[in-house]
Amino acid sequence: MHAVTLIKGDGIGPSIMDEAVKVINASGAKIYWEEAFAGLSAFEQFGTPLPDATMASIDKTRIAFKGPLTTVVGTGFRSINVALRQKYELYANVRPANNWDGVKTRYDNVDIVIVRENTEGLYSGLEHYLTPKKDIAESLAVVTRTGSLRVIEYAFKYARDNNRKKVTVCHKANILKFTQGLFLDVAREVAARYLDIQFDEKIVDAACMHMVMNPQQFDVVVTTNMFGDILSDLTAGLVGGLGLIPGANIGDDAALFEAVHGSAPDITGKNLANPAAVVMAGVMMLNHLGEFDAAKRVQTAIEKVVREGKFVTPDLNPQSTCGTKEMGDAIVAAMGN
Ligand SMILES: NC(=O)c1ccc[n+]([C@@H]2O[C@H](COP(=O)([O-])OP(=O)(O)OC[C@H]3O[C@@H](n4cnc5c(N)ncnc54)[C@H](O)[C@@H]3O)[C@@H](O)[C@H]2O)c1
Repeated sequence: MHAVTLIKGDGIGPSIMDEAVKVINASGAKIYWEEAFAGLSAFEQFGTPLPDATMASIDKTRIAFKGPLTTVVGTGFRSINVALRQKYELYANVRPANNWDGVKTRYDNVDIVIVRENTEGLYSGLEHYLTPKKDIAESLAVVTRTGSLRVIEYAFKYARDNNRKKVTVCHKANILKFTQGLFLDVAREVAARYLDIQFDEKIVDAACMHMVMNPQQFDVVVTTNMFGDILSDLTAGLVGGLGLIPGANIGDDAALFEAVHGSAPDITGKNLANPAAVVMAGVMMLNHLGEFDAAKRVQTAIEKVVREGKFVTPDLNPQSTCGTKEMGDAIVAAMGN
């Protein structure tokens, strides 16, 4: 039995997480869910966005399955997502984006895995005003050799273990010669130790253009925190949108699985949210836990449901009247339960 901390999150979080838990429970995986709270809803309920009990649970289970958390723009508490990634040193954020049968997009044969540095860079949290009038502000981007090495090693090892051919480092070392320069130097060092994996370097702005003109040239992409955040939404757009893209936050002794998307306030409470991204995050978690048969069962079922296109949410089929719950039910039914 695997103990997993379950955080349903904010906005569309509870509705999609309920479906994902239902699907995982039906897969035969042996999971014991320990429910905990975080985000805006936790703040409203407990007066803190990250209660001690939530951290006590993750301290124990070392595995979390999390819905999206709302972080108010500009003001309010610091992102709890960033705080959790830093506290548990979840340094590699793995975000795969690939075409799905049944989802028509502008591109075919896209299969990109973004490996985003998840604890440093411009999201280090070192940000403040420099004047009492608050008319000058600064953010510090912290990049360390250790932090760069562990995520870049992870990306190359991931490529080798998953039969991938190429790693592209996306950087801005032409302008940010120290922080981005350090990341690029480490990438070149690591690449020299993985001669079986092709290595490419791209300046991040040019990489954006290449991704929308010829996405098939990308395989595994490794990059710093903010660039990875942005590029992974871009890759989501190439293959059918945020409703499909899962993410794994991996550290040496803890891991957290979630969708790439946020709490989607524009569709909250409308039974429109696609549960596929969190279900696929569940597949990543099951594989991480060694529950390979259950992972395969869930993946095969969700691929069937999406391919058939009948019980999918309107982001995938605008004619569909199917909601979040009905799509979850269809995935369970496709597992033969
Ligand atoms: N990991 C996280 O917890 C996480 C990630 C990103 C954003 N956020 C937070 O989420 C909040 C909202 O952010 P946002 O609106 O910029 O981004 P968002 O990802 O919530 O939504 C962007 C767009 O994608 C759509 N969308 C997202 N998930 C969908 C799904 N499952 N099915 C169908 N459509 C979906 C939304 O309706 C919206 O139009 C913010 O507070 C932000 O900080 C949290």
